[in-house]
Amino acid sequence: MDYSPHKMDQALAAFERDYPAYESTKILDDLRATEYARLDKQNQIYLDYTGGGLYAQSQLRQHMALLEEGVFGNPHSKNPTSLAMTHLVERARSFVLDYFNAPSDEYVAIFTPNASGALKLVGEAYPFAPGGRFLPVYDNHNSVNGIREFASAKGAEVTYMPTVLPELRLDAAALEAELNRTQPGSHNLLAYPAQSNFSGVQHPLDWIAKAQARNWDVLLDSAAFAPTNQLDLTVWKPDFVPLSFYKIFGYPTGVGCLLARKTALKKMQRPWFAGGTISITSVQGEGWHYLLENEAGFEDGTVNYLNLPAIEIGLRHIKDIGIDVIHERVTCLTGWLLEQMTSLKHSSGLPMVQIFGPANMQDRGGTIAFSVDDPQGVRLDYRWVEALANRANISLRTGCFCNPGTGEIVHLLTREEMAQAFNRPTGMTFDQFFDWARSKHDRNPSTMRISVGLATNFADVYKFISFLESFKDKPEAEIDEVEVEYTVYATQRDSA
Ligand SMILES: Cc1ncc(COP(=O)(O)O)c(C=O)c1O
Repeated sequence: MDYSPHKMDQALAAFERDYPAYESTKILDDLRATEYARLDKQNQIYLDYTGGGLYAQSQLRQHMALLEEGVFGNPHSKNPTSLAMTHLVERARSFVLDYFNAPSDEYVAIFTPNASGALKLVGEAYPFAPGGRFLPVYDNHNSVNGIREFASAKGAEVTYMPTVLPELRLDAAALEAELNRTQPGSHNLLAYPAQSNFSGVQHPLDWIAKAQARNWDVLLDSAAFAPTNQLDLTVWKPDFVPLSFYKIFGYPTGVGCLLARKTALKKMQRPWFAGGTISITSVQGEGWHYLLENEAGFEDGTVNYLNLPAIEIGLRHIKDIGIDVIHERVTCLTGWLLEQMTSLKHSSGLPMVQIFGPANMQDRGGTIAFSVDDPQGVRLDYRWVEALANRANISLRTGCFCNPGTGEIVHLLTREEMAQAFNRPTGMTFDQFFDWARSKHDRNPSTMRISVGLATNFADVYKFISFLESFKDKPEAEIDEVEVEYTVYATQRDSA
């Protein structure tokens, strides 16, 4: 690939002319050279921020210093080392609430292992019952889709709202019609992502209040939204907000959170209790236990306490930069990427890239799903493109990103077709599913995804476009010769 510095400088100058707001995000170039210097030291082109954010080196140093100096015990006690830890855990908790502008008389922050853990807490305890409804959207992550198992087991009606091509947004009129359909006294849960982890679409936040006014509770999956957007809980009042912190600031993994409205928590029915979630129980009578109120009733066992101070450190880091600065940078770089990707053409005149989702920056974030086509319009097997990207040290994502609904829409897989994939006693691996889906439409159901974030710079996106340019005029058969390491997934594990 030709990364000639001269050509890149010219492209940068043109980019800066077209995106003057980029200038206001220069602090991120300084941080790239210091806090994130390891990217350039290793020539890594990291384009998977929706999969996981990157940490600044100072986050690690601060956290390690704290651990090296402190003596911390399990926060469930009243001894000095336990109290020292409790203090830091509660500081982290209130920092999280402050960061999201969540009034502390209205919201609680429940620490969980990740966003999926937060979603499971909602799924297993929401009072689904006959007469009630669960209304997910096609664009949900599998960890939201899984809630339907709890809903249908308890007799609630499950209805999916499809996303609509080409922009992969939801049909507002159809949603409104569904929202109007509830029974008095029933419990109803609408669940949608603030930002799609597939297409980057930002779904309207004003549905939250509209749904609540019609007797719905609202779960706003903010895992893919929060890393590059401010979620202001004084303005928007979803009942449940699941998050993973590593997606926002990279370190640590293993900690997420459920921001929950106290009023919504009151109606939850936990299916079990654990250490830490009750005031007392007895082994001599079934059902004898008192669940603690608010977050304490939902944090099973010992929280990941040594890592919780790192949440405050990470959020401070984002606050110091300014989420608006990160948002601006991501907006500029994504806008440029979309322009470049949509203008790439083979000599045959056919486009080299197909974007799945909005091709401009209207109501979308920094995640782009796409496929690469050959000069005859043959969609390339994503495994070849991925193998070539790996050689160029480009970290991108492939597969369905744990968002099968939007994948089914973009690859035109109907319900009848999908039904055939689920009648096999032995199940199917993702690769088998890919080959099977290809046979349905005689076309590779390939999707790749790039996503930009706080440490992305112009050189990253420029190099990625140069990588795509290398496919110009290359027939499928030529690319077919690329050696691919086929990964055998037992399930749709290409998550995140
Ligand atoms: C929108 C969305 N929701 C939920 C999740 C699940 O997050 P985790 O795997 O951290 O539990 C992800 C992961 O990528 C996501 O993108």
